[in-house]
Formats: sequence, C-alpha cells, structure tokens
Amino acid sequence: MLLTWTDDLAIGIDEIDGHHKYLVSVVNALDEASRRGEGKAVLGSILAQLADYIGFHFTREEHHMRVIGYPALEEHHEQHDALMQQLSVLVHDYETGKTTVTQDTLVFLKDWLMNHLLGHDRRIGAFLKARTEQAPP
Ligand SMILES: [Fe+2]
Ligand SMILES: [Fe+2]
Repeated sequence: MLLTWTDDLAIGIDEIDGHHKYLVSVVNALDEASRRGEGKAVLGSILAQLADYIGFHFTREEHHMRVIGYPALEEHHEQHDALMQQLSVLVHDYETGKTTVTQDTLVFLKDWLMNHLLGHDRRIGAFLKARTEQAPP
C-alpha cells in the first residue's frame, strides 16, 4: 500500500512539511519501482537518494527545533540517529550485494516514517502552536 499525505501530518513549518511530503513520495517511488520489478541499480539509487535526503532533512528539522526552543530535542535527535544508523547498514548491505529491497524493507521504512511523522514530528507542531497561542499580541 502506498503512503498518503494528509494535512493532519503538517506541523506548520513550511520547509519541514515540504520535506515530509517529498519523503512520502520517495518511499512510494521505491515501493512502485520494487513492484515493477526494477533491477538493483534503480532500487539502489532510490534507496541511496532516500538515505541522503533523510540525512539532510534531519539536520534541517533539528535546526528548526533549536530555533523554536523545542524541549525534547535530545530525545528526538536520538530517534533520528537510530534511523540513520539503520539506513547506513541497509545501504551498505545493498551496495555489497548482501540484501535487496524486500517487502520487509519497505514495510520497515513506511512504518518508521509514518510513526515518526505522526508521533515525534507532530509534537513539534503542537509545541509551536501552543507557543504561538501563548505569545503576547
Ligand atoms: Fe523528526
Ligand atoms: Fe521529520
């Protein structure tokens, strides 16, 4: 099943929401390429592109968290770090021919992304909203 972007995934920081939409589209592209039976080169390049983009996205997201004084930055960073480590193992295994993009890989990526967006990332939006509401006019 492909992922669907819905507005309730938006956290209210335009740059970050744009990244999240793009991430959803790249995970879907990987899924579609795998279903089409694309070869190793195509799947490997989408996987590497995904890992690169996620690294860039995490840096930007953590920058925004710092700017708004987000209190759970440390814990959130650990979640990002854990995925980056898993992704680097995945990309490495793929490049060395140890693994292929399996249904398990896709399920893992989709679950991670949606759980992270709906849990951790959405809390940034909630914090930002509460902070804006409390701010004096
Ligand atoms: Fe995040
Ligand atoms: Fe994010």
